[in-house]
This record gives sequence, C-alpha cells and structure tokens, in this order.
Amino acid sequence: MLEAVDPDPLAAAVALRWAAALHHLALRGRDPWAALWPPAPATDAQLDAAIAAAWAGERAHLDRALARAPQTNEVQRSAALLPGLLHVAAATGLPLALCEIGSSAGLNLWPDRHRIDYGAWASGPAEAPLALRCDWQGPVPAGAATPLVVRSRAGCDLHPVDLRVPDEALRLRSFVWPDQAERVLRLARAIEVTAPWLRDEGVAVQAQPAAAFAAAQLAAPREGAATVLMHTIMWQYLPAAEQQAIAATLDAAGRRATRTAPLAWLRLEPPVPDARAELRCRLWPGGDDVLLGRAHPHVASFEAVA
Ligand SMILES: C[S@@+](CC[C@H](N)C(=O)[O-])C[C@H]1O[C@@H](n2cnc3c(N)ncnc32)[C@H](O)[C@@H]1O
Repeated sequence: MLEAVDPDPLAAAVALRWAAALHHLALRGRDPWAALWPPAPATDAQLDAAIAAAWAGERAHLDRALARAPQTNEVQRSAALLPGLLHVAAATGLPLALCEIGSSAGLNLWPDRHRIDYGAWASGPAEAPLALRCDWQGPVPAGAATPLVVRSRAGCDLHPVDLRVPDEALRLRSFVWPDQAERVLRLARAIEVTAPWLRDEGVAVQAQPAAAFAAAQLAAPREGAATVLMHTIMWQYLPAAEQQAIAATLDAAGRRATRTAPLAWLRLEPPVPDARAELRCRLWPGGDDVLLGRAHPHVASFEAVA
C-alpha cells in the first residue's frame, strides 16, 4: 500500500503518517489509543500491541490516513506576518486584501484578529479569543499603534484542510506531536476560534495550486486596497517552474500597481533549507524589497531588522 504513495519512505514521511494515523485514533477517543497517548504513560509493549490492534481492526482508517500527505498549519506564524502587514499598511495607508498561498487550513489569514503580545509592544484587541506570545527583539515597528484594516481574505492550498468538518480538524491536530503540550493547546484553540470565522464569513481555502491562485487573484488591481500575496514556510515545496510562474505573475501585476492599488509580496521563508526564516516584503509601485526580520519557523521570537 505504501509503495503506491512513494517508493522512498523518507520522502513520503511514512513514520509521520503512521504516528499521525494512530494519534488521530487517540484524538477520536478510541480505545486503546486514547488511554496510551500523552500525558498518560505507556510502555513500548502496550504501544506495540496498540499498533498491531490498529493493523488488525482499523484498516479502513489506516488506508485513508496513510495515503494522504502530512499536513500542518502553525498559527504562531501570524506573529511574524503581523509586522509585515503593519509595514504594508503604514507604507500605503490603505486597507489590505490578503491572498495567501499554501494556507493549509487557513489559520494564518487572521493576524489582525488575535492579541499578539510581543513583550515590547502588543497588537490586536485585548479581549481577542486567541492570544499569542512572541518575544520581540529590536526596534518596535513604525505604525505598531495603528489598527490594521483587512478588507478581504482568500487562501489556497494543494491539499486544503476543511475545518468545518470536525474529523478534518482532528486530522490536522494529529500531526502535532502529542507531548508538545503548548503547540497542542494553541492549535486546538486556533481551530476553535477560526472555524466559525471561515464558515460565517465565507472564507474557504480553495483547492488550487499556488501559481493558478496567484494568477487569478492578481489578474486585476484592487482599487482602494493594498493587495498582499503572502506565504509562510511553503515556498520550498513548490516546483521551480511554479516558483517562476508566481514571480512572473508578481512582476506583471507589480507593473500595473498604482499608489491607490498597490501590491505587496510578503513572505516568511528560510533563504536556504534549515536556516532561520526571513520575513521579506516587496512593494509595488517601485518594487523595493525589504528584509523586515528573522524568526525560527515556529516563531517563538522575532528579530526585527527594519
Ligand atoms: C509546511 S506547510 C505550511 C502551511 C502554512 N503556510 C503554515 O505556515 O502553517 C506547507 C503547505 O504548502 C502546501 N503546498 C505545497 N505545495 C503547494 C502548491 N503547489 N500549491 C499550493 N499549496 C501547496 C501544502 O499542502 C501545505 O499546506
């Protein structure tokens, strides 16, 4: 069965698929898995028996779970996107139209709605239902006190997770290691908060490759708004041809951008594999590209550069 997924077990992340498939059973509250997962203590012998029991009695679930690509969505990356969005808002003085590629479940389409405590400063409503903490290093950004106005939100993913389906939310949670208590709690809360926003405001993450989505979203300038094409920790997964197609789309849309319909390319991506991620923003008209800061991919802290 797994050979059909990918002949290279490392590339297919087979171990991760297995761990998530069993974690998913635990999250559904199924015995014996629910009783064995952290914080409960479990012996190797108990886990071996539980894996054998899954192979014998949960084949339909395993067939489905092992066949699908691992999927994550880290809402803490909103703490890195926020200073970039403030940068665009301060530079343009306009409301923002957010277009995210590689959105996964769409958890990072709402950085303006969360309370983000950076230590040196904070953003978002004090009573926000989701609170994030991120250790800020460097100068406080210009415009930190200005509330962000977001006019529209749209996202795409090759394999979107539909949070309106309860079992899909559990599947997304199954990819976080269950002993990482802080991430587990943060993701569960982010799903609880975001799912109604997605549903009630009609913001679906479209099942579409990034290049096609970018071409559609940037086909015409949005008068009176700054369009922001944004992405976090996904560029490395795009084939070179798709990266080039998006760059060409941005260049063409950038040439059409005006002061009343500007365009930004905001991204949090490592410059080389395994390096710290860089938050960069290119803004048209003009096309200047600025390095705004650096962060580890899970954004416990953010080092501001400009
Ligand atoms: C590591 S995850 C990051 C998800 C999210 N951006 C975040 O930071 O939490 C990479 C995402 O990119 C998506 N992806 C990979 N190739 C893609 C493509 N060609 N077009 C759109 N999405 C893609 C994956 O499905 C996955 O959701």
